[in-house]
Amino acid sequence: MKIGVFDSGIGGTSVLEAIKKLLPNEEYYYFADSKNCPYGEKEDDELYRIVKGNVEFLINWGAEIIVIACNTATTRCIEKLREEFKIPFVGTEPAVRLAAKSNANKILVLATPGTIHSERLETLVKENQRQSQVIDLLPCPGLADTIEFNLNKDESKIYKKLKELLNNLPKDYDSIVLGCTHYSLIKPLIQEFFPSAELVDGNESVAKRVKELVK
Ligand code: DGL
Repeated sequence: MKIGVFDSGIGGTSVLEAIKKLLPNEEYYYFADSKNCPYGEKEDDELYRIVKGNVEFLINWGAEIIVIACNTATTRCIEKLREEFKIPFVGTEPAVRLAAKSNANKILVLATPGTIHSERLETLVKENQRQSQVIDLLPCPGLADTIEFNLNKDESKIYKKLKELLNNLPKDYDSIVLGCTHYSLIKPLIQEFFPSAELVDGNESVAKRVKELVK
């Protein structure tokens, strides 16, 4: 089966790896839209126009399933895409459900401003938060693009950005939700700021859903 995958750059490769583990024999096209990175700081109209272009490109290639390997594009555009296109979409959402059903009492969701301020995230928190469970949300402007343009080149820039965003936060979170696929690429760096927390992302859930669809 032909599976098209896209993100605003390299972030979604973490999702692609998870899918390929479960489905090694499918045909993949990964579209890294780094020209338009970051998605997380764009207005809805502009973001939809960009994302729609990616979808059309992948359909022209022959995609039979499209994986939106991006939390921002999923939380802000997937409903409209499903109205406009017949092709099945699998989206990537912050793994709030996974974190909330664990033993974690204190959870922190890191994501782009676009995802943090989305209705979809608000609903995910409302639907999954247990009584007495704390779920804090932190928008991380500039982090996805810093990773996009510096990973494996100048990691000190990524570390500096993380320090700006995370240094003054409490250290006692049990679980950190990586609500942007770029953040999954720097797990060890994020772990340094929260040594005792479990870091979770939605990549395996996406892979399982793609497998169900393929079967
Ligand atoms: N990797 C994407 C996400 O999961 C997009 C990051 C961005 O371009 O702002 O949200």
